[in-house]
Amino acid sequence: MTEINLDRLLVGRDEIERRVAELAEQINADYSDATTPVSIVVVLKGAVFFAMDLLRRLSIPARIDFVQASSYHGSFDSTGEVTLQKDITMAIGGTDVLLIEDIVDTGLTASWLIEHLETHRPRSIRLATLLSKPDRRRLPVHIDYTGFVIPDAFVLGYGLDFEEGYRHLPEVYVASPKS
Ligand code: PRP
Repeated sequence: MTEINLDRLLVGRDEIERRVAELAEQINADYSDATTPVSIVVVLKGAVFFAMDLLRRLSIPARIDFVQASSYHGSFDSTGEVTLQKDITMAIGGTDVLLIEDIVDTGLTASWLIEHLETHRPRSIRLATLLSKPDRRRLPVHIDYTGFVIPDAFVLGYGLDFEEGYRHLPEVYVASPKS
């Protein structure tokens, strides 16, 4: 297993907590008129940490399901290929869908997932992400709720992994492989 250096703290716990609370407030307001529960679709695995903190602050009726798709086959770069590993089982037709990501990087995964969810004919789809790396975008993605815009650096923690490790760190770090 490659060893990793945590080079610097990028987003600390307090900052995450504050921003998550702001996003939740915005989402609560935006969906306050919804007549049916919002269908929350969380992208496994990285978004689970962000989603759980965010969802605990939602006061609107919501239903929750998970999807797993990946565009990362190497460790540090995106191959451009999206594969679906786990689909939703919840019916989302005619409902308002809120897709929750931990990071939008090239945009391939989020674009692909939105297109995929659209085949179920929901009433609306919005996208929330903890992190966005606009410098890496290969496909334009409309993000409705962004936690933090970050530079093009390798980041981990608060859901983001390296070889499945480091997800449980409570904050986001810039990291690099130990040479
Ligand atoms: C990460 C992240 C997004 C995607 C973003 O998932 O959770 O789903 O990559 O990259 P993109 O914008 O370039 O498509 P990953 O495949 O690493 O899975 P994980 O969440 O299980 O770590």
